[in-house]
Amino acid sequence: MWTFRQLSKNATRISPSAYRHMSTSSANPQVDVADDGGIAVMTLQRAPINSLNLELLQAISKALDDVAKNKPDGMILTSASPTVFSAGLDIMEMYKPKQKRLEQFWTTLQEVWTKLFGFKFATAAAINGHAPAGGCILALSCEYRTMVDGKYTIGINDTALGISVPQWVMDTMRYTIGSRDAELILTSATLCTVAEALKVGLIDETASDKADAIEKCKKFIGKFKKIPPLARSTTKLKIRQELLNNMKRIQQQDTAEFLQHIQNPEEQRDLEIYIQKLKAKKAIK
Ligand SMILES: CC(C)(COP(=O)(O)OP(=O)(O)OC[C@H]1O[C@@H](n2cnc3c(N)ncnc32)[C@H](O)[C@@H]1OP(=O)(O)O)[C@@H](O)C(=O)NCCC(=O)NCCS
Repeated sequence: MWTFRQLSKNATRISPSAYRHMSTSSANPQVDVADDGGIAVMTLQRAPINSLNLELLQAISKALDDVAKNKPDGMILTSASPTVFSAGLDIMEMYKPKQKRLEQFWTTLQEVWTKLFGFKFATAAAINGHAPAGGCILALSCEYRTMVDGKYTIGINDTALGISVPQWVMDTMRYTIGSRDAELILTSATLCTVAEALKVGLIDETASDKADAIEKCKKFIGKFKKIPPLARSTTKLKIRQELLNNMKRIQQQDTAEFLQHIQNPEEQRDLEIYIQKLKAKKAIK
């Protein structure tokens, strides 16, 4: 599902186990992890739009564990697509679903969020294209976001699909941009332009292209060079603990609510209409 390769020659911190994984990677990995001078660059590459299906979420979850084992200086999340960071949840996982797979899909999403939001190493997202819904959540779970300037959008549009926004998703957005803007974006299913995203704080910086976005993420991670790692990670996790605890507390109930909601015939009809619009290119662009 994923590979680990070296980008630069000064990758001294990669453990031998990383190279073992490299040799056992599949021929068509959905997640690529590369070492860039001690920083892990995790690239989502489920063509064409990185929609988050069960297998991609499992690959991200596994890759996060492997990156953590290598104790990087930080991790940058980005996409192999030239125009899409991630299209968010794969709608086909929710349309006419099989209960067991649907449950696994949702709990893996919760797991990915928990690992990424609670990642003890520095994290940044180089958003090189559209980042609706789950794409926005992945980016918001990182500590810093740079976004390539262009006709791209970012936000959480679940309500447009008839999906009420889960508590932990709301909390993640609120954590970064505050309640007022989060409420407005979530209730109106707004997908912000890059300029709007910068204004409300959904992103921290714009970038001219993907390389620039990654450079800016590296600069952010570089800020922590002189900070003792344990003090940094303990502080990060303490600040994020409330949200992480909340997830633990509501996880089962959140899954039960999701399963019930998605399998409701009315919701299935809403999804069908949305899929048709998407196919007809009339959805949200
Ligand atoms: C992400 C996006 C802006 C990319 O636009 P694009 O590059 O022009 O790509 P397309 O819209 O042509 O999408 C490519 C294909 O993926 C499908 N697709 C797009 N988003 C998808 C999703 N989230 N899940 C499943 N399939 C999706 C499209 O229907 C299209 O299928 P087709 O090739 O069979 O027609 C656009 O696809 C989009 O807005 N997607 C919906 C995102 C969304 O609402 N996510 C919320 C999920 S909860």
